[in-house]
Amino acid sequence: MNKTTELPGARAGVAHLDESILLPQLGCPAGSIGIAVGDMLEHSNRAVIEASFEFLDLHANERILEVGLGNGAHVPFVLDQAHGVHYTGVDISPTMIAVARCRNAAYVREGRVAFETADVVAMPFSNASFDKAITINSTYFWPKLAAGLKGMRRVLRVDGTLVIAAITPDAAVELPFADYGFAVHDAATLEAACAAAGFGDIGITRYLEPLANPPQETGQREFYLLRAVAG
Ligand SMILES: C[S@@+](CC[C@H](N)C(=O)[O-])C[C@H]1O[C@@H](n2cnc3c(N)ncnc32)[C@H](O)[C@@H]1O
Repeated sequence: MNKTTELPGARAGVAHLDESILLPQLGCPAGSIGIAVGDMLEHSNRAVIEASFEFLDLHANERILEVGLGNGAHVPFVLDQAHGVHYTGVDISPTMIAVARCRNAAYVREGRVAFETADVVAMPFSNASFDKAITINSTYFWPKLAAGLKGMRRVLRVDGTLVIAAITPDAAVELPFADYGFAVHDAATLEAACAAAGFGDIGITRYLEPLANPPQETGQREFYLLRAVAG
């Protein structure tokens, strides 16, 4: 029997889709369905995205990398965090990168923002290109967590800051992630992978998203916010 999804914040564009079509799209949104998925994620994840960037604590003129950015609707919010910030967004999905470039075309022209289609393990940047790096709701889809984090470590400068935002296993219990091969990591696994990738001073806190209006069908989700320093 077909199952429709009850993903948090599912909007009209994707709410009717069968779970078997929608769920694989989360790991690499593609085509017109992917654009609708990006739109759904933009709204349903807005609160945790903004909380994660506030946790990253941007300062003037810093070079910021985001891996798995989705459709880039939040980039203006990021640029507002501190004067002269330069933002680079990477996503494995060509569809998401095309949408992000289109939505942020003026910032791209001004040279404040850049986007690249790439896998976290093979990003086309020199070592130590960034002061801070962040990834939100993306680690679930990486085949090897520590390898992805090594990719992020390589492009961060020594003493650069990493932030990971990821749903907690308890909050993901109702979501059919495992059925589609997605990995929801517990805090110890995230911490160990960061250490293996060359990060230190690892701290993890929890973030409970606010109640939406109308309220989320799945209830409020809880996320880990992990911060670490590149050694
Ligand atoms: C569920 S979406 C999250 C988007 C946004 N960060 C949010 O929280 O709404 C996951 C994103 O990570 C990207 N992604 C998955 N695996 C990736 C990888 N190995 N390297 C880079 N991006 C990846 C997907 O294409 C997708 O845009």
